[in-house]
Amino acid sequence: MKELKPEEIQLFIDAVAKHSGYDFSEYSIKSFTRRVQKLLVDYRTDIPGLIKKVSESSEFLESAVKNITVNTTEIFRDPGIWQVIDKKILPAFKNELRINIWHAGASTGQEVYTMLILLKQHGLYEKSKVYASDINSDVLKVAESGKYKYREIDEYIDNFNKTYEKSETKYDINDYFKISRTRNLVKVKPFLLDKVQYKVHDLTKLTNPFAVKYNMIFCRNVLIYFNHDLQNRVIKLFENSLFTGGALIIGKHEGILGDIADKFEKHGTIYIKK
Ligand SMILES: C[S@@+](CC[C@H](N)C(=O)[O-])C[C@H]1O[C@@H](n2cnc3c(N)ncnc32)[C@H](O)[C@@H]1O
Repeated sequence: MKELKPEEIQLFIDAVAKHSGYDFSEYSIKSFTRRVQKLLVDYRTDIPGLIKKVSESSEFLESAVKNITVNTTEIFRDPGIWQVIDKKILPAFKNELRINIWHAGASTGQEVYTMLILLKQHGLYEKSKVYASDINSDVLKVAESGKYKYREIDEYIDNFNKTYEKSETKYDINDYFKISRTRNLVKVKPFLLDKVQYKVHDLTKLTNPFAVKYNMIFCRNVLIYFNHDLQNRVIKLFENSLFTGGALIIGKHEGILGDIADKFEKHGTIYIKK
């Protein structure tokens, strides 16, 4: 892939900002550069060509932005986290009258359905309000449909089994998903659909899209794409948006540093607001 200079990346970021509301100036430069390099290959162009295209066509700009964001996700991704949520976090919410949950950077929704399954198992489903947002409208459409490609099923089953390996109750993934190899489809069962309010939302704008306070905020594998300053501002937004005792769940390669860390009690990658 062609090497890109920081100045070239900056020109592209400026062009995107000029022609849209997207601001990538505080994304981590290394991963952003890799994504732009991939765009150049996919569209067989160079930086001046890319800038010309985003300046001339808002449709092209939208699709370029969607290609820049990394949308990888899984059902029961990182089983260790779900074990802690299952055993420690959800039992503590038993007496709450209502539970508000925000999945920020939800991508295609596998994390959202994982959480819905746990809420069902804990008898907390009915009293929960679940919200999910992402900068990319296409991934939210997939999330809403609850339909996934069959090829990821081995990973999903593996995660599911690992999450419950020490559990006394035996759960079956087929209770929650209709798995059809011939149709190349894994489909969320209807009783888990229509629970979630989805909204396109850009975290760099530092606003709370659903204007409520939350008992849990998930923002896993999103902060990693932001530089340190932006990460801190987004974490401040989450801290403001959580109830005391609420949980912020970030990705296993992410952390909270600086003064804002004092506002939380840390349990691995789960941070409880003091
Ligand atoms: C790697 S996925 C993580 C999905 C899920 N949270 C998980 O951990 O499995 C990162 C998601 O963050 C979203 N994203 C990137 N920049 C964003 C921004 N500024 N505001 C909101 N979402 C953003 C991407 O569109 C993508 O869907």
